[in-house]
Amino acid sequence: MPKLLVSGRGGSGKSTVVALLARTLARSARVLVVDADESNPGLERMLGMVPPAKGLLDYLGGRSAVRERLLASLQRERTERVPFFAAPFRVEDLPAACVSRDGPVGLVRVGKIERAMEGCACPMGAVAREFLKQLTVADREWVLVDTEAGVEHFGRGVLEGVDFVLLVVDPSHEAVLLAEKAGRLAAEAKKPFAALLNRVDAETGPFLQRALQERGVPVWETLQYSPEVMRANLVGEALDPGTFRGRLEVLAEDLARLVGRAGG
Ligand SMILES: Nc1ncnc2c1ncn2[C@@H]1O[C@H](COP(=O)(O)OP(=O)(O)OP(=O)(O)O)[C@@H](O)[C@H]1O
Ligand SMILES: [Mg+2]
Repeated sequence: MPKLLVSGRGGSGKSTVVALLARTLARSARVLVVDADESNPGLERMLGMVPPAKGLLDYLGGRSAVRERLLASLQRERTERVPFFAAPFRVEDLPAACVSRDGPVGLVRVGKIERAMEGCACPMGAVAREFLKQLTVADREWVLVDTEAGVEHFGRGVLEGVDFVLLVVDPSHEAVLLAEKAGRLAAEAKKPFAALLNRVDAETGPFLQRALQERGVPVWETLQYSPEVMRANLVGEALDPGTFRGRLEVLAEDLARLVGRAGG
C-alpha cells in the first residue's frame, strides 16, 4: 500500500487530513503516521494519541551525531551516503520507544525543535528522507507523512521514498500558487501528485477547482468546512474519527489503485 506525503501551505489542513485519513484507513489496514513537521506539535492530539517516547533524531544519537554522519557523507563527495538505517526495515522492526500505538495506528516522530539556537532543521529532513526510503510496507499497511508548511521537504528530498504526494489546498491564492509549485517539484522527482481541497464551501470549492485545473494540478477530493473540526482544534480535543469518512475512503481507493498499477 502507498507511502503518502501530505504537503501544503501553513494552516491548510495537512495534519487534520493526515489524522482523519489515518482513522479512516485504520478500519481495514495498519497505518503508520510519520510526523515529519519539526515545529508544530498538534498531530498526536488530533489523533487522540500520546507522542512516542523518542523521536527518530534522538534514537539516532541526537542532532550532533546525525550532523556528523551528514558531514561524513558530504566529505565523500556524495559518492557514498553514510546510512542512518543500515538496511530496509518494516514497521514491526521499529524500536518500541520510537512508536506510540493505538490499535492499528502507529505514530512516529522525526524530531521537534525544542531549544532556542539549537540549529536548523536539516538533520530532521535527512533522517525523514532516509527513514522513508528504507521503510518497506506490507499489503495492508499505509504510511502517511505529515510535513512542515511550504516546500522545504521537497528540497531536502523527503519525497524520495514515498509513492504519492497529496497537496492540501485551502481557499487562498497563495495555496493555489504553492500547489502549482509543489506539483512541479513532485513531477521533477517523478512522483505522482494530486490536490485535496480543504475547508471549502459552495463558492470557494468550484473556484479552487478551476484555478488548479488552469495550472495543471489534478483535484482528487474536496473536504468542506466543518464546524466540528474547527471546534475540536480550537479547544484541543481529538478529532472525531468518523469525520469525512466517505470522502476519505474514496481517496484511499484511488490511491491504492494508482500505486497498485505502478507496482504491477
Ligand atoms: N475541513 C476543515 N473545516 C474546518 N476547519 C478546518 C478544516 N481543516 C482544518 N481546519 C482548521 O484549520 C486549522 C489548521 O489545520 P491544521 O493544523 O490541520 O493545518 P496544517 O496545514 O497542519 O498547519 P501547519 O502548517 O501549521 O502544520 C485547524 O486549527 C482547524 O481549525
Ligand atoms: Mg500541521
